[in-house]
Formats: sequence, C-alpha cells, structure tokens
Amino acid sequence: MSCPHLYALEAGFESAFTVDASRVTFGPGALGEVGDRARALGVRRVALITDRRLRALPWFAEVDAALRAAGLDVALFDEVAIEPTDASLELAVRFARDAGVDGYVSLGGGSVIDTCKVANLLATHPGALLDHVNAPIGRGLGVPGPLAPHVACPTTSGTGSEVTGIAIFDLLALHAKTGIVSPRLRPTEAVVDPRCTATLPAAVVAASGLDVLCHALESYTARPFTRRPSPSPSPAIARPMSQGANPWSDLGCREALRLLGVYLVRAVTDAADAEARDQLMWAATLAGIAFGNAGVHAPHAMAYAVAGRVRDYRAAGYPAETALVPHGFAVAVNAPAVFRRFAATSPARHLEAAALLGADVAGAGAADAGERIAAAVAGLMRAVATPNGLVGVGYTAADIPALVAGAAPQRRLLDNAPLAVTPPVLDALFHDALTCW
Ligand SMILES: [Fe+2]
Repeated sequence: MSCPHLYALEAGFESAFTVDASRVTFGPGALGEVGDRARALGVRRVALITDRRLRALPWFAEVDAALRAAGLDVALFDEVAIEPTDASLELAVRFARDAGVDGYVSLGGGSVIDTCKVANLLATHPGALLDHVNAPIGRGLGVPGPLAPHVACPTTSGTGSEVTGIAIFDLLALHAKTGIVSPRLRPTEAVVDPRCTATLPAAVVAASGLDVLCHALESYTARPFTRRPSPSPSPAIARPMSQGANPWSDLGCREALRLLGVYLVRAVTDAADAEARDQLMWAATLAGIAFGNAGVHAPHAMAYAVAGRVRDYRAAGYPAETALVPHGFAVAVNAPAVFRRFAATSPARHLEAAALLGADVAGAGAADAGERIAAAVAGLMRAVATPNGLVGVGYTAADIPALVAGAAPQRRLLDNAPLAVTPPVLDALFHDALTCW
C-alpha cells in the first residue's frame, strides 16, 4: 500500500486547494467574550438567535449578559425549530428584517446556527429562500455579497456549523433536506465554550459525536482534491467547498478521529466526565474546520433521505412531539456499509482511520480494510447505543427505492465520494445499511 498522506498531481486535474476558516476562540469561559467580540466587529444592535430549551439554561443568561455589558442592544429570537424547515426559517427571516439589527449572535446546535445564517442572508440581501438553493430545487443564484457579522456559539459537540458555510433545512413540499452552501455563510467568528455540553443528554452526545466521526472519516476518505477535473467550469477562485480531501483537512480529520477513539464512549456514558466532553467539543471543532474545506460524501447524502422520510422514529433525549431521526444517527446508520464498500479506493487511509478510532489493525492488509473500518465504526455505534441501521430507525427493505430517490439528487455530496455513486450503488448501500451489526 502507498503512503496515505501523499497526493499525486496529474495533468487535467486540480493541483491547488484553498483553506478557509472562521476565527475560532475555544475554551471554558469563552462565552464571556461574546459581547466584546461582537462589538469589535462593529455590531451595535444584535439579533440573539436561540431556541426555547436553551433560553432556560445558564449559557443563555451568560451570553445575554455579555452582550449587554458590552453596550449592545439585544433583539431576541428564541423560536428556532429543531431540524429547521423552510416554514420555520421564514419566521426567523421576518424577525431579522423587522428587528433592524446590524449583527448576529447564535447560541445553540446546528439548527440554531443554520437558522441564523439564513436569517442573516435574507435580511441582508432581500429575496426568497429558494433563490439561493442550488438548482434544480432552487434558482441557484448563490450569495450575492458579504453578510452582517455573525458570532456563532455552538452548544452541541457535533455539526461544526459554527465554522462552515453550510445551512441545511427541510423543504416541506419535497419531504427532503436541502441547503445553501457558500463561504459567505460562514460565521465571522466561532466562540466554542465546551462547558455548554455538560447539560446535554447522553443520546444527544452520542448522535452529535457520531456526526463528528462521519465528518472526519468522510472528509478523510473523500475524493482527493487532485482528482477534481481542472479547469473546472467555474473560475479557480470559485473552487467549491467540497473540494475533496487535502493536506489541510487531513490534519483535523486525523486528530478528530483519534480524540473520538479515546473520548466518545466516555463522553456519552458519563456526563460528569468533563475532560471527555471538552475533548469531544475540540474534536467537533477540528472536524468542522476539516469538512468545511474538504466536504463529506455518501453517508451524509444518504442521511438526507433517511431524515427526510422519517415516519414515527423518536430518539430519547429529543423532543417527543415530532418524529425525527437525529442528524448524527441518520448519517451513522449508513456509515459502516459505505466505508466497507469504499475502502478499496484507499485501503491505507481506511485502515489508518480504523487504528485512530482505536481498532487493532496489526497484520491487516489492503483486503481487510473494509471490514476493519466498518467494524471500528459499528463497534463505537453499539457502545453509545446507536439504532442498529435503517431498521433501527423504522425502515424496511421496502423503503429502499424511496431512500434511493431521496439520496440520488444530492450530487454536491455524492460527487465528492471516492467512486461513482449511481442509483444502483445507492440501492446496494441502503440494503447493506439495513443493519450495522
Ligand atoms: Fe453532519
């Protein structure tokens, strides 16, 4: 096997990659800096975006106090929906347009931060949500110019939304998740305070931790940037965020996988293990920066369909009123099947990832890579009580054609996979994903 860290350049393909990142402030107590940071960005009247559950927690009071202590006028919006929809985003957009703010602070998980990105976009550049969603679902107009300053404060160790230019939501009419992707959506600053994760239920830590695992593992095994045709249809400076695995993203992926191998199970099973929860937050930050510069692939593309077509699955630790498959579970149930099948594209990388996650790969060769990485991921899933595959979140083999139909249009993600992911390949992957162990 060749060294997994080398990228071979070839005529007709990309030879360069771009690194883009928000300013990151990380550490216990960092929330206290939010007011001064927003003020230093020129913000005077700030929209504080959060959800009802968070509003009752001490982190909200801390951020609110920090903003007021810095002399900022605060306009509060606390009606963010978990797993936002086009309808719930409209509420936030209307608030932002009416509130007359010149900057944003988001406090919450990916749903809150993504909602804040869209509110900022549509209050700054009047237009409709679908103007900015990629064709054929939307008009694909992109993001026309810079947005107002946005300081994002994540409270779950998962999505990485605080450092990416991606906003994901459910389009109710299509029963599908879609999103807006642009470097201009990336928050100006991320303030990451790992104390926020102390109050998270175990299932939320498990789901968000598996999301981190998949961000890191998918980015690490994505199509290398050197396999993206060049010149591409767009100018080089418009290089897509899903530019493929590259030496910068590899750094964050490897360290995130190592930290997950050490700390994921501890962080889920013992809420008092502050070291584990802090380190999981750091892994989430690293993996977020990595996938924001490399892009994820098939497990996330498949997850859009798994989450979008949910019937009655409900997870402990999440609101019971609505059926939903938490994003991290929707992704993870596909992961062992995908990595088992894709490992042949870069066996050394997949074996290295299994070792970083804590598996013993002594004596394993290229032919073993698929089974070893699938077992490493499935082992961690079992240890943190993840649903066992698609069956575990309420699907049967009869649902697979609909799942394929939901995943196949996710070309931004599927084209970032290390091999061609056609509908027949998706069909085989969903069959393999019915159970993980
Ligand atoms: Fe994710």
